[in-house]
Amino acid sequence: MKVLMLNGSPHEHGNTYLALCEMQKVFEDDNIESEIVHVGVKPVVSCISCGGCEKLKKCVFDDDGVNNFVQKMIESDALVVGTPVHYAGATGAVTSFLGRAFYSGWRSGKNPYTLKPACAVAVARRAGTSATLDQINKFFTIAQMPIISGRYWNNVYGQTPGQVNNDLEGMQNLRYVAKNMAYFLKLIKLGKETGVNPPIQEDAVFTNFVR
Ligand SMILES: Cc1cc2nc3c(=O)[nH]c(=O)nc-3n(C[C@H](O)[C@H](O)[C@H](O)COP(=O)(O)O)c2cc1C
Repeated sequence: MKVLMLNGSPHEHGNTYLALCEMQKVFEDDNIESEIVHVGVKPVVSCISCGGCEKLKKCVFDDDGVNNFVQKMIESDALVVGTPVHYAGATGAVTSFLGRAFYSGWRSGKNPYTLKPACAVAVARRAGTSATLDQINKFFTIAQMPIISGRYWNNVYGQTPGQVNNDLEGMQNLRYVAKNMAYFLKLIKLGKETGVNPPIQEDAVFTNFVR
């Protein structure tokens, strides 16, 4: 069992990273593999809606971490997305990264996300975490990913790297989320082993509201 964790901060070892590490310790104790992927500091282009991913089975832009992330997600059982709050939302890089990762992952037909537990973590100095969590959770809820929750909403507070360690309640909540995620991963594994099959997917119906 493996949890893929996206560190969406420009700081490779900042507060978002420390928040993910707090969860990683819980996974380790539960013998669940995990890997933190850093979004990096190079510009991440957003989806240009070219439709090329349907043909290529991956995003047409191969010069950042998106395709690698989708491949890792195919091989993982759960996802944690951590982002700092930038202007009361997820960072631009995270938004672009996830937009392409989810769209190209879906269009590839390789099914990287369906029914894999997921959660978002928002890191801020002071405000904007609720909107940020709502934003990230929307990627999960359009991909049939069950959202794992804790005892509070998944926000932790700090400004300069390291300050988040002082948010004792926030960090405790993240440990709860990680424990709950580990529990659900074990249930899913047991279900697979005992013949509880995922629902059969229907052919997708697409409608719009032009008429
Ligand atoms: C461009 C920018 C915008 C920010 N906007 C907000 C904000 O809207 N609300 C807030 O509480 N903190 C905001 N912050 C502060 C960061 O969210 C905070 O310092 C966080 O701990 C950074 O996490 P990191 O160390 O993982 O990058 C902003 C920081 C930057 C650089």
